[in-house]
Amino acid sequence: MRPGLKGLVLSGGKGTRLRPITHTAAKQLIPVANKPILFFVLENIAAAGIEEVGIVIAPETGHAIQAAIGDGSLFGLRVTWIPQAHPGGLAHCVKIARPFLGDSPFVMYLGDNLIGTPITQFADEFRAGGADATILLKAVDNPSAFGVATVDDAGRVLKLVIDQIVPSARGELEITDAIQQLLNDHARVKSHIIAEWWLDTGKKDDLLAANTTVLDSWCRTDVRGSVDAKSSVQGRVQIGRDTVVANCRIRGPVMIGERCNLRNSFVGPFTSVGNDTQIADSIIQHAVLLEGCRLQGINRLEDSLLGRNVTMSSRGSQGLYRMSLGDDSDVEV
Ligand code: TTP
Repeated sequence: MRPGLKGLVLSGGKGTRLRPITHTAAKQLIPVANKPILFFVLENIAAAGIEEVGIVIAPETGHAIQAAIGDGSLFGLRVTWIPQAHPGGLAHCVKIARPFLGDSPFVMYLGDNLIGTPITQFADEFRAGGADATILLKAVDNPSAFGVATVDDAGRVLKLVIDQIVPSARGELEITDAIQQLLNDHARVKSHIIAEWWLDTGKKDDLLAANTTVLDSWCRTDVRGSVDAKSSVQGRVQIGRDTVVANCRIRGPVMIGERCNLRNSFVGPFTSVGNDTQIADSIIQHAVLLEGCRLQGINRLEDSLLGRNVTMSSRGSQGLYRMSLGDDSDVEV
C-alpha cells in the first residue's frame, strides 16, 4: 500500500479558446450547472481520500482562484499554491511541482475537466501498487485531436501515439511524452477506459455541452425562491433563495441562482442562470449566464455563454441570437 497520495491540479494556462470570457476570468472558475468547474474537481479529489493538493496557477488568474478556494478547508483539503510563470505545458507543471510532491505518488487532474465518475476506485487501485503510473482514457470519435493509447487486454499501456499534438508545435512539455518515456524505460503503465462522460470545457460549445450533461445528470427539483400562480415550472428545476419568478414558463433541466428576478419570460432546457440576474420579456434556452446579467426583451437567445454583468436589451426586435460575451458586455439588438 502506498502512503500519502497527493493531488496535483492544473489551474494555470491561458484559456485562449474560451476568450473573450477568459480575458477577465479563470476558465476553471466558470460555472457549470452554477458551480465552478474547479469545485467539481476538488470535490472528486477529496472524495478519493486525498488530503493534500497542490494547485498550479497562472499570474493572470491565480489571485481569483486563490480567493475562490481559500485554504481548501471548504473541501477538506490542504492547499499548496504552485505559481507557474508561463504556461509551459502539462509536464512543466509536474516539474515545478516537485518541491511540493517530493517523492509522493500523486494524482494529476486538469482543473478545467469534468468527469462523470468518482476517481476513488482508480486512486485506491493505484495506492495498492502494481503500476508505476495509471492513466484514464475515454473513447472519442476524433482521437487524432487528442492522442491514442495502445493497450493490451489487461489495460496495460503499450504505446502512446500523439499524431496531431506535436510537442514542438505547441512549445510545451507534454505529459504524454513523459508517459511515453516511462514506457520506454519499461515502467508499468496501466489504464482505465471510463464509460461515463468526460468533458473538456476549453471552448464555448464544450462548456455548453458540459452544462447540458451535468444538468441532465445531476439537476434535481429544488425550489427555494417564489414562483407566482401565473408561472409554470416543468421538469427538473432548481430555483435559489430570494429569487422571484413571475409569469414565466420554465422547462427543465434548468438551474437558477439566488436573488434573481424573472418576469414574462421562457427559460428552456439546459440553461444555468447565475445569481443576481434579471430576465424580463425574454426567451432563452441552452445557455450559461454568469452572475449579474440583465436581459430585457431578448427573443430569443440560444447556445450562448454570457459573462458576468452582461446587459442585453432590445426594443422588440425578433431574431435568434447566439453569443459568447465577456464580462460587462453591453448589447442592444
Ligand atoms: P489546456 O486547456 O490544454 O491549455 P490552456 O489553459 O492554455 O487553454 P487554451 O488551449 O484554450 O489556451 O490546459 C488544461 C488544463 O491545464 C487547464 O486547466 C489549464 C492547465 N494548464 C496549466 O496549469 N499549465 C500549463 O502550462 C498548461 C498548458 C495548462
